[in-house]
Amino acid sequence: EDYALGGHPDFLAKEIAEQPDALRRALAGRLDTRFATARLGGLGMDPRELRGVRRVLFLGCGSAYYAGEIGAGLVEQLARIPAAAEPAGEFRHRNPVVDPDCLYVAVSQSGETADTLAAVQELRRKGGRVIGAVNVIGSAISRECGAGVFLHSGPEVSVASTKAVTTMSVSFAMLAVLLGRVRDLSVADGRRLLDGLAALPRHVEAVLAEDAAHGTVAAVAQRWAHASSMFFVGRTRCSPVAREGAQKLKEVSYCHAEAYPASELKHGPLALVTPDMPSVVVVPDDELLAKNVGTIEQIRARGGPVIAVTDAELPAGLADAVLRVPRTEPELAPILLGIPLQLLARHAAVALGRDVDRPRNLAKSVTVE
Ligand code: G6P
Repeated sequence: EDYALGGHPDFLAKEIAEQPDALRRALAGRLDTRFATARLGGLGMDPRELRGVRRVLFLGCGSAYYAGEIGAGLVEQLARIPAAAEPAGEFRHRNPVVDPDCLYVAVSQSGETADTLAAVQELRRKGGRVIGAVNVIGSAISRECGAGVFLHSGPEVSVASTKAVTTMSVSFAMLAVLLGRVRDLSVADGRRLLDGLAALPRHVEAVLAEDAAHGTVAAVAQRWAHASSMFFVGRTRCSPVAREGAQKLKEVSYCHAEAYPASELKHGPLALVTPDMPSVVVVPDDELLAKNVGTIEQIRARGGPVIAVTDAELPAGLADAVLRVPRTEPELAPILLGIPLQLLARHAAVALGRDVDRPRNLAKSVTVE
């Protein structure tokens, strides 16, 4: 096999470990420090066309859809234009209104997912402007779009997507900076974000090294992997991080997981919080930190164990376990906070004796309906 494990126990472990290099490739030559913007030549859009974009809609399936949600948050914050994500298979079947001022982004690791390809074809038929965010060069979606940003994450074999998702988010951060800089994102903010992006590969390295050296995430997985269900909680920009974390856990460990926005806790999920229902709470060090601390307190007051995933200094004893990542720019925190959740899913799957690379009933790429 020409894509060998290279000493890793499985492809999922290998691909998680390859993320710093995948990120370096995804960022290479694209951070324009002189003009404090991103260079994405593959889009084929000049500043006038970029300014004409009034809305952005990300379309993808599975983890590519969740990455699109992270992208939508970034575009809205940095470019101040409305942005959203939608499952490509829903979009294609609901006879969508195609908006000529919207930039549609088809997100796909393989570039072959049938629903995403069909969404692109529908858009093109109706005159929509669609670009690809695709890993595999020459794939059907990249050819059909004809323009876009390649992820350069390298081959991904494990069914659960990790390094492709991380490079998707980073590509959307660059797209958001580019769309922001032709609007009112300042030079200073552009530079701050470029510096933050450039630092991401070594921050990811630090997260991986910490788990490898001290088994931090593995210990959390061993303690809670036998729970029959887990909650994943995130707020605003970290809500998609929680959704992708829950998806990853379900896919590879078969442990049931449900994600919900932190603000929804009191509107239903709280009824299920017991000592047997652990919650993974994503806590970025941002303007909503106090609210997320409050969320953790509410869960623990009902006896629910809490695993906090954070780049903040949390009060001692606040959570039952804390998975720390290095501090980054608040807008980029969702990218980094997703890494411990990948490790958690894999360690839980290993603890439960699952086939982590080939989960039952799933395919790497769903090319038929
Ligand atoms: C399948 C895989 C997922 C993946 C999704 C989209 O369902 O199991 O891991 O996220 O397809 O794949 P794509 O290649 O379009 O990103």
